[in-house]
Amino acid sequence: MKGIILAGGRGTRLHPVTRGVSKQLLPVYNKPMVYYPLSILMFAGIREILVISTPEDLPLYQRLLGDGQQWGLRLTYAAQDEPRGLADAFRIGRKFVGGEPVALVLGDNIFYGTGLPETLRRAAKLEVGAVAFAYPVSDPHRHGIVELDASGRVISLVEKPSEPRSHYAVPGMYFYDGKVCDIAASLKPSARGEYEITDLNCVYLARGELRIEMLGRGVAWLDAGTHESLLQASNFVQTVELRQGLMIACPEEVAYRMGFIDGDALAALAEELPSEYTDYLRNILRDHPVRR
Ligand code: G1P
Repeated sequence: MKGIILAGGRGTRLHPVTRGVSKQLLPVYNKPMVYYPLSILMFAGIREILVISTPEDLPLYQRLLGDGQQWGLRLTYAAQDEPRGLADAFRIGRKFVGGEPVALVLGDNIFYGTGLPETLRRAAKLEVGAVAFAYPVSDPHRHGIVELDASGRVISLVEKPSEPRSHYAVPGMYFYDGKVCDIAASLKPSARGEYEITDLNCVYLARGELRIEMLGRGVAWLDAGTHESLLQASNFVQTVELRQGLMIACPEEVAYRMGFIDGDALAALAEELPSEYTDYLRNILRDHPVRR
């Protein structure tokens, strides 16, 4: 399976902070925001990843992430010149996807919790249809909202409903089969002028090919798209990391634990600019000389 990170948009809700820098490069506590969704794809076992951002911001992502080889990945880049919606990722990424299954994760979505890597790896095995997730939220009118019956089958799926029929949001992480680019190409822009991911998911739903998995209350899903949620996400990551002495979404560590790079490669990364971050990488090797 391949992966796409969508890190476009103007970040208007974060102005003036995002006037000078792309939203998904802002720090969430001690790492650039984009490290979090990148780690999610890595946990799913995905190594071939397309990063989509605005033409102005793309060079900054390239400077930060490079070709991915340092983490055992293959990263490529593509521009989205206008914010035309999430499903636009599959119009832009059509050649990259090449008819294969692909996961999409939004550059400002942060996931953390028990069992998540297993959930991701299960979703990444998908061959036919689509897998998305449901997560309880207190502000359902702000999200794509899914209504499920008692057996977990999808009854309805609506983008930002004014009268939500459930409080289960569909977070910004989706897994699709090889048909996704054709379906995305057939979509019409919505009233807000965007190719909506919810419209794309509704096509899978109409074909009986959309599976929704619950992300339980033991999982944290945070989006970092407003001043408040960005600060909350930073505080969350700080609280967990300081308590455990373990980092959330450290790509070097994920690459090592997933077997994408070996101990020598991690040691070389730990030799880069001395900082608390590289101290941490050294500690991983000291505490876990054998990968797990
Ligand atoms: C988008 C999607 C929505 C989804 C949300 C997750 O919303 O359209 O279905 O629940 O991402 O972050 P937007 O970013 O356009 O507000």
